Amino acid sequence: MQGLRKVAIRGTGMYVPPRVVTNADLEELMDTSDEWIQQRTGIRERHWVDAGTGPAHLALEASLRAIEAAEIEPGELDAIIVASLSPHHEFPGTSAFLQDMLGLSEIPVMDIRCQCTGFLYALNVGQLYVASGQHERVLVCGAEVHSTGLDMTTRGRDVTVIFGDGAGALVLEPSEDAERGILSLHLHAEGKHAKKLWVEAPGTVFSPRLTEEMVREGRIYPHMDGRFVFKHAVTRMPEVVHEALDANKCTIGDVDLCIFHQANLRINEYVGQQLGIAPERTYSNIQRYGNCSAASIPMCLDECVRAGRLEPGDLVLMAGFGSGFTWGSALIRW
Ligand code: UT7
Repeated sequence: MQGLRKVAIRGTGMYVPPRVVTNADLEELMDTSDEWIQQRTGIRERHWVDAGTGPAHLALEASLRAIEAAEIEPGELDAIIVASLSPHHEFPGTSAFLQDMLGLSEIPVMDIRCQCTGFLYALNVGQLYVASGQHERVLVCGAEVHSTGLDMTTRGRDVTVIFGDGAGALVLEPSEDAERGILSLHLHAEGKHAKKLWVEAPGTVFSPRLTEEMVREGRIYPHMDGRFVFKHAVTRMPEVVHEALDANKCTIGDVDLCIFHQANLRINEYVGQQLGIAPERTYSNIQRYGNCSAASIPMCLDECVRAGRLEPGDLVLMAGFGSGFTWGSALIRW
């Protein structure tokens, strides 16, 4: 992006609600097993909210940690972008609630609806805000509360066991070093597969938008053609990783840390093998948090940052795939 400022990640944060739900806890609710869940997905447990907590609350905690790590005050933020597929309310967007919770007003806020790739789309928008000079400091957040919208019966077991609640956030600023910062973002979508992983109702195409019949039939819960989604994920993620590497004249051997969206550990192991990336250069937390959609990548990033896994100059690769379908990658010189 010639003529634009290089943009760096200044501070990161993450938050999950305190309640841990193990696979054994799910066995009490539906016909499933710890063995099935761990074998097929790698997930051991996830965190779910208690009633009254929404994604803006989780985003607030993650954002405060990111703001503290960036050594700024909330009042120094110029814009807020929140990626979420599970909005705090139907409208306005989660970002509006987050802005108020942060004690801010008047700065622009925006919600991004690109599901498990949402964080990468939000990062792209935030990067362009800062790169163009429109804003100096942008808060980018991924936040999800899946648990209040899941089918807790055997009917929904394929989807319900994989999702967790959580939030991840970061602050973007102009980079002080022209060599370091976000190198590229590549984003894609294929709407013809929208119904392969979706929640049908409530929907504005219906009048009324929600009926008792829809609730009874479980059309208010996520539905997924798991195998179909799996096949596309393991094809699209390597594709978009190569797109990022080629665009930057890098090879997979140059990558110091690879963070994939946390949909299924098996997907990421398979993608990692296809790419030929050493397992110790990847990071996963799905075992502890499940699939937190737009929050998964920034949650992983924050854990890596706080564990001291990143040195200045390291090359960080991110890639995600999700409902829409949407997919994308980011390459960052730390
Ligand atoms: O984050 C956005 C993108 N999402 C993804 O990338 C997810 C992609 N898909 C997947 O990760 C996998 O498809 C799942 C983990 C969701 C499912 O694994 P699978 O190996 O594709 O299983 P399946 O849906 O083909 O089902 C296999 C069997 C079925 O039983 P039968 O028909 O063989 O008797 C299911 O009824 O496993 C059964 N099953 C379960 N059994 C115990 C499905 N869910 C469960 C469950 N516990 N939770």
